[in-house]
Amino acid sequence: MLTFPEGFLWGAATSAHQIEGNNVNSDWWVRENAPDTRTTEPSGDACDSYHRYREDMTLLRDAGLDTYRFSVEWARIEPEEGMISHAAVAHYRRMVETALELGLTPSVTLMHFTVPRWFADDGMWRSPKAADRFARYTELALPILGDDVRMVCTINEPNIAAMLAGGEDPADLVAYGLPAPDLEVADTLLECHRRSREILGGVGGIQSGWTVATQAFQAEPGCEEVAHEYGYQRDDWYLEAARGDDWLGVQAYTRTIIGPDGPRQVPDHVEKTLAGWEYYPEAAALGVRSAWEKTDGVPIYITETGIATADDARRIDYLRGSLAGVHGAIADGVDVRGFLAWSLLDNFEWSAGYRPTFGLIAVDRETFVRTPKPSLGWLGQVARNNGLTE
Ligand code: BGC
Repeated sequence: MLTFPEGFLWGAATSAHQIEGNNVNSDWWVRENAPDTRTTEPSGDACDSYHRYREDMTLLRDAGLDTYRFSVEWARIEPEEGMISHAAVAHYRRMVETALELGLTPSVTLMHFTVPRWFADDGMWRSPKAADRFARYTELALPILGDDVRMVCTINEPNIAAMLAGGEDPADLVAYGLPAPDLEVADTLLECHRRSREILGGVGGIQSGWTVATQAFQAEPGCEEVAHEYGYQRDDWYLEAARGDDWLGVQAYTRTIIGPDGPRQVPDHVEKTLAGWEYYPEAAALGVRSAWEKTDGVPIYITETGIATADDARRIDYLRGSLAGVHGAIADGVDVRGFLAWSLLDNFEWSAGYRPTFGLIAVDRETFVRTPKPSLGWLGQVARNNGLTE
């Protein structure tokens, strides 16, 4: 048995827009429903988790997991600039209380890719007001956190957010590699993160950080310089920026091989997931090792890892491989404190719609009936053992 450290957190993650449904005041809703959209289908009702969150959390808890990472939606909390929805704040507070009542540790993300449409329409992260707006939003969210939420993520994957800021359609990310990040947006996101952390730090007991999509860039022989050029601004910069934070979230799915002209397409003969990415369970261990080194030792959580597949046995195999790798990193002294799988539910996978199924639980698109997959029970058993049987 590969045993994990005492107090290690075991859970699964989701994000508001991907599961709640009818997030009509957000920029993504606008994008999905625009006449020229390249999103394959709109999010619509999603998994109706805005109403069914108790059921989601209960399934997670009953399987044996102890932590639920979810995000709160800025577009619901502040649907028009300066207008606060007390009902939305109360809704998210009820989610926190439900998690606690079920014995779960809530891990709350303030911004998981989506922003209010008014924020997007007025310059988004390029607006000189962006950091003030994000700071104000953090303050609006404080009553949700109360004095009992310990783990808060300010911004999910700022590195991906900065790459999307160039205006590229996210549908292209999977197909053609990652666009260059907008470095000014990256600076603004960092400013937002720091100001938000300052506010959160004023509330006793909150540990805050951000989560980074670590991408395991691997240079072909002689291409180390190209790999550094390509990778630093898409990955390492955000890890280095987390120095001094309470924790850092690593989100790892695959690797990217860098040749003389940049990223290589995944070759045909290689096993791919429904997202089109190489099946590569070593990504998580590489991510935590790199995060540990680049941050000079900030505590790490795996806040997302998993695969999109219709074959749940491959998902179990992938999670097993990820966990074995993470255990190896822990044995080498990396301080990893938890493992949250992506995702609890089959959900709205951004531009790719509902086709890539990342969930531990299947969701019927019309009745919203949840059907746990074997991988949920499998991960729950690992959690109960706090260890992986070899
Ligand atoms: C994001 C999730 C997304 C997942 C799989 C991560 O980059 O945080 O929102 O669904 O990857 O693509």
